[in-house]
Amino acid sequence: PPPRLHPETIEAVRDRADIVDIVSDQVVLKKQGKDYVGLCPFHEDKSPSFSVSPSKQFYYCFSCGAGGNAFKFLMELGKRSFSEVVLDLAKRYQVPVQTLEPEKRQEFQQQITLREQLFEILAVTAKFYEYALRQPDGQEALTYLQRDRGFNEDTIQQFQLGFAPGGWQTLYGYLVDQKRYPVLLVEQAGLIVPRQQGSGHYDRFRNRLMIPIHDARGRIIGFGGRALTDEDKPKYLNSPETELFDKGQTLFGLDKARGAIAKADQAIVVEGYFDVIALHAAGIPNSVAALGTALNAAQVRQILRYTESKQVVLNFDADAAGVKAAERAIGEAEEMAYRGDVKLRILNIPDGKDPDEYLKLHTAGEYQALIDSAPLWIDWQLQKLLSDRDLRQADQFQQASQDVVQLLSEIANADTRTHYVRQCAELFSHGDARLMPLLAENLMVQVRRRRRTPEGTPSRAPLAFNTTSTLEEAEAVLLCLCIHAPQHRETVLEMLEKRDLQFSYSHHRALWRELSAWQPTEEAPSLVSWLRDRAAESARLAQTQHLFYLDEKSCRDVVRAPLVIRAAAACIEKAHCEKRYRHFLQLWSDADDTVTPEQQTHYQNQVYAEKRRIAELEQERQTTFEDLVKLPWVGDDYQTLET
Ligand code: UTP
Ligand code: MN
Repeated sequence: PPPRLHPETIEAVRDRADIVDIVSDQVVLKKQGKDYVGLCPFHEDKSPSFSVSPSKQFYYCFSCGAGGNAFKFLMELGKRSFSEVVLDLAKRYQVPVQTLEPEKRQEFQQQITLREQLFEILAVTAKFYEYALRQPDGQEALTYLQRDRGFNEDTIQQFQLGFAPGGWQTLYGYLVDQKRYPVLLVEQAGLIVPRQQGSGHYDRFRNRLMIPIHDARGRIIGFGGRALTDEDKPKYLNSPETELFDKGQTLFGLDKARGAIAKADQAIVVEGYFDVIALHAAGIPNSVAALGTALNAAQVRQILRYTESKQVVLNFDADAAGVKAAERAIGEAEEMAYRGDVKLRILNIPDGKDPDEYLKLHTAGEYQALIDSAPLWIDWQLQKLLSDRDLRQADQFQQASQDVVQLLSEIANADTRTHYVRQCAELFSHGDARLMPLLAENLMVQVRRRRRTPEGTPSRAPLAFNTTSTLEEAEAVLLCLCIHAPQHRETVLEMLEKRDLQFSYSHHRALWRELSAWQPTEEAPSLVSWLRDRAAESARLAQTQHLFYLDEKSCRDVVRAPLVIRAAAACIEKAHCEKRYRHFLQLWSDADDTVTPEQQTHYQNQVYAEKRRIAELEQERQTTFEDLVKLPWVGDDYQTLET
């Protein structure tokens, strides 16, 4: 059974744990006014509905209604118990744990002390390596740093570079014999390795140039050790995973780059330790490295905490084709780029150089210029896709356009997709302006089909009114129904009254007035002919003329009138709610000291209420549409409806 935690421990953890800190481990947050927003981790969120308030220390999802404090967040997300979460946070924030059972207390206290002791051993070790670099044994390594790498004293000290002497028990002798650290702890720090045969331990790092690896808060958690000769393998030997060192969660140099990333509002991710060091030395300190692995989502999220506009440039070492290297390095960042969570650019230095090599021959300004002109991930891929194809050849054109469709259908944001569709159509049309719209339309249709019907389900006949319709379209569809399907007019009227909705557009209001006033007369026996006459006199009414005539799409809506009315009503009400929501959100975020707490709470409650209603309405709209498209479509039905 989990321990019963002492209330003081829970309080202490509550004090230390920061909701923004904790949530941003899992969610990319962007500052908005006093709060932060991001995509909700508790449901499939398409636009950021998840908000985190640092002053109130709570989170809330406007779409799914999830909300609570830091503890609740971790419990729900990890499906963990309260005490598990508190214990974990205690570990993370170094809070001493007290339980109500004294015998358990020791156990948890030990875990925390273990981490503290490991930090200490690693810090002492780094000092030892720094010292050794200045001894006669370390001369070769020091010369290598100064001469081959061109680092000055400041850089060597800033990165606490050092030297692990040769011999099997040099560090062991220092830490265990001299400083009296327990062997087991030194082993757990990843610094010594138990012998396979017999007893005893030997130093993991021998005769290597030592590079300490820090966590984001600047504490040493491990080391990378570089061989000094080409014969010595592996080139880099790194600390094993330990209680403190989790490679996948670490970025080399982040502790020194944090401020600079925020200042430049952009992070540069490179591949090697020495690339980071060389960049910092050259005056480009917003750079970090993933430790010889593909970038994962956790690492990208860590970086994004510091760049408000989410700009990351990935500078990977190019192999011959460049493509494989990019795919290897980009890792999980790719999906985040498609979703728009990160503005990812790709820098591939000419001649296959890494930043360190490049900076030996070029200035920091020249490197910065490369960074500034680095293409976005999608552009970079498009260039690769199209670069060695002759689009005038039918087969190559065909292949290219298929590849392009596949690429573009990955993009989550509709505007971004449209932008790239246009761009590709332009490329494909070779500057023939008449061809452009046709190609764009064609690409768009294919991209849409690929996104909507992944399993090759046949696409349905389009409806005039669909899931992405706007307020104006929703109003228009109701009016259209009233004109062409008079038997539903009553339903429309009832629905508007029940939901307390009015038409928002003045031309729609004008048409609605005409519809309500119309009686069949001698001169105008049909509604449409009467409207036509009235429209000739009123410019406002003339704006609605397209609704007087049925086209094929609107006919489908007429046949499905009851469902279309419900869907349109939900759409209109949602638009109204969104207006009120924005209004109260503005009031809430503008609230200063002159606004009473009661008033603030009122704003806040209004914001949440509207957002909940919006979510309900979105749901209603979706389900109505699902019903709608299931209905069979009988092509001739509408002819009987003509007035
Ligand atoms: P590279 O092999 O590209 O080396 O490894 P580099 O950074 O350019 O090194 P120099 O300039 O020759 O000294 C890139 C990164 O991959 C990891 C290291 O983090 C390294 O910085 N790596 C590489 C390892 O962990 N082990 C290896 O054996 C090689
Ligand atoms: Mn290198």
